[in-house]
Order: sequence, then structure tokens, then C-alpha cells
Amino acid sequence: MALLNSSKVFSAVGAYRPALGVLSFRASSWWSEVQMGPPDPILGVTEAFKRDTNPKKMNLGVGAFRDDQGKPYVLNCVRKAEAQIAAKKLDKEYLAIGGLADFNKACAQLALGTDSEVLKSGRSITVQTISGTGSLRVGANFLSRFHTAVRDVYLPKPSWGNHTPIFRDAGMQLKAYTYYDPKTCGFDFKGAINDISKIPEKSVIVLHACAHNPTGVDPKQEQWKEMADVIKKRNLLVFFDMAYQGFASGDTDRDAWAVRHFIEQGHNIVLSQSFAKNMGLYGERVGGFTVVRKDAEEAKRVESQLKILIRPIYSNPPMNGARIAATILNTPELYNEWLVEVKGMADRIIKMREMLVLNLKKEGSTYNWQHVIDQIGMFCFTSLKPEQVERLINEYSVYMTKDGRISVAGVTSGNVAYLAHAIHAVTK
Ligand SMILES: Cc1ncc(COP(=O)(O)O)c(C=O)c1O
Repeated sequence: MALLNSSKVFSAVGAYRPALGVLSFRASSWWSEVQMGPPDPILGVTEAFKRDTNPKKMNLGVGAFRDDQGKPYVLNCVRKAEAQIAAKKLDKEYLAIGGLADFNKACAQLALGTDSEVLKSGRSITVQTISGTGSLRVGANFLSRFHTAVRDVYLPKPSWGNHTPIFRDAGMQLKAYTYYDPKTCGFDFKGAINDISKIPEKSVIVLHACAHNPTGVDPKQEQWKEMADVIKKRNLLVFFDMAYQGFASGDTDRDAWAVRHFIEQGHNIVLSQSFAKNMGLYGERVGGFTVVRKDAEEAKRVESQLKILIRPIYSNPPMNGARIAATILNTPELYNEWLVEVKGMADRIIKMREMLVLNLKKEGSTYNWQHVIDQIGMFCFTSLKPEQVERLINEYSVYMTKDGRISVAGVTSGNVAYLAHAIHAVTK
């Protein structure tokens, strides 16, 4: 009745005076116990950015590529693929539960390599998913249902913020292994090996295949090799998250090196892929989930269970983005153009890293910013402290996540000097 007496309720119903029974029914709520949740730590940055009226404002929070004018970028190969698809006047019937077959085949081939023994022997299964997030969630649900002996999932410390709720909401338990060394702003190889060698057998370990988010720090090939050995000794189930293939080095094969090496070493991995970043298909939600199995028969059984799992969640995935990706991957001319465009995006990011450091030096900063250049992929873990980040936001309208991560894709030739000036101002 407290609500009923409130002036808010009466003003909401206005001049209309329904019978008391109706009013009390309307005023009651099923959800009064629901607490206000915090904004998403990454998408919340964009919301704050949008409200800011400073013309110099920069959004370095969200990981989406921008051209050197700071504008969202649609790849030429994507435009061409869209035109080809439109000209075919295809139908809009449902896809299969596992998605578009032409896409799935090409998606797995991109990750595992055209000569992959796994693909030749048919001992893997790939389903189309709702981008990388959907892939991770399908994978997490699959683990939750079938990897029941050990529920623990080990994430690198730190990891992409969404990994934790994805696995937790699927019913898995989250653990962590050492990854980043704040002292060197690089990979803590010793710490990682030390932690991994103590992980209980059969646990799941999540590895970022390339362009680790949020740190931009990847193991070197020699280090990957040692990690593969230790992980094998511990008998861990490897879950690769490859959301940035091509975006790290500009070379899709090089960026898939760790995935392929682990498979060569006998790891029957599971793999999540996203085409959000490397094809700029963010909102199209194109991804794949692959399970590498012992043999083709086991792969078939896994496929049947993936379908059973997907069907009651979203029935079948959306077709448009998958058609675009499949057209690019399966048309040699578009595929070659895509490789050039991916390299172009990676190169622009690498150039901005160098320009940022150059401008910091010009500003007179005496800090060692080498890690900004050494880190790879879309993100740079600047080492800025939370209070410095707060000043950058409040005094300079430079938006980033609280942990000091910046999306280098949001830096341009036009704003890099301003960014360097702002960073120097809060760090000197
Ligand atoms: C490490 C990592 N995994 C997965 C994803 C999933 O992205 P999406 O769902 O947009 O493909 C992201 C996106 O930022 C990411 O950084």
C-alpha cells in the first residue's frame, strides 16, 4: 500500500481513476527485489563518452577499429561480398542448428590451416556461433554439461572481462593463473609456468591465441612451446579464444601459430573464433566454435550434442554475417583483398603505438613507454593507475577502462598528440 499512496503512482495514472482493485494490481511489481546492477565496465565507458560535450573527447574504451579519421571502418571486401550476396537474391530460410556449412568449413580452415591433419581426418566439428561471445558461451555450456569431472576453468590474470561471467553463468568455477607482470608490463613467463604446473589435472585452461586482451602481451613461440609441454603434462583441457586472428601481426597464419602448435603436439583443443574484429563484422555477430576430437566418430557424437545444446538457446544462428564471411573466405579474389585489409588495420595500430610513444617523448615524458610499442593487437595496457585514468576522463575527456587499458584502434594521426599531452600531464 505504500506505493499506492505515493504521489508518483497517482501522477503516473493521471486523471484516470480506475477501480482500486485494478490500481493495486498495476502498482504491485514482480521485480521489486531486483537490485540495480552496475554498468558494464567496457560498454559503460562508451555511455559516459557519449554524454561528454568536449570536442576533443576520445573513446579508447571499446575495442572497435577506427580509420585514421576516427570513423568506423567497413572493409572493401565486405562491401563487395554484400553486393555479390544481394545480387544472388537468396532466400531467408532458417539455417541449420550448426549454421552455414560453407562458413563452418572455411572458419575452421582459417584457424587450423589448409593442410591441417585434423580437417583432413574429419576429427573436428565446427558450429557457427553468435560471434566470439556466443562461441565462448556455447563452449562453456558444453563443458558444463560434459566435462563434469573437474569444473575449474583457469583464466589468465587478467583476462577479458567477459570471460568470468560467461563461464560462471554456465556453471563453471573460475580460477586464475599468473600471466601479466606489472613490473615489466610484459608476459610473466616464469610465473605462468609455475602456476600452470600446479593446476589440477583435467582442469580447463583458457589461452588467448593472440593479441591478449586486455594486456596486448603474447607469449613468444618458444614460450608457447614450453607452455604446451607443461599443459600436456598436467593433462589440461585447452580452450583457445581467438578473437583477433590477423589483427595482432597482420598475418592470419602467424596469429594462429599457437593454436596449430598445440594441435600438432597432440592437444585436442576447443576453440572459439570471432570475425568481429578481423572482418569488422562486429554487429553481424559471426563466430565459430570448434571441438578437436580423437577421431571422426567422436567428433560426430560431439556435434550431435552441440546441436542439442544450441537448439533451445537460439535455435539456429543468423545468416547474413556468416554469408558475408563465407563469401570472403571462399572467393580467392575477396580472400586476398581481405588479407591485405587485415594487415592494413594491424599496421595502422602498430603505427599509432609508435606515434604515441614519439609524442610522449616530445612532451618531455621520461618514462619508459617501450611496452606501448612491444604490446600487440588492439589494446595497450598502459600501466596508468586508476587515479590517473580518472583524471584523464575528468580533465581531458579521454575515456578508457579503469585498469588503464586503451584501445589503440581509437588513436589517430589527428588525436595522438592530444592523447600524449594528456597522458604526460597525469603521469609527470
Ligand atoms: C578476448 C576476447 N574474446 C572474445 C571476444 C568476443 O567478441 P565478440 O563477441 O564481439 O566476437 C572479445 C571481444 O572483445 C575478446 O576481446
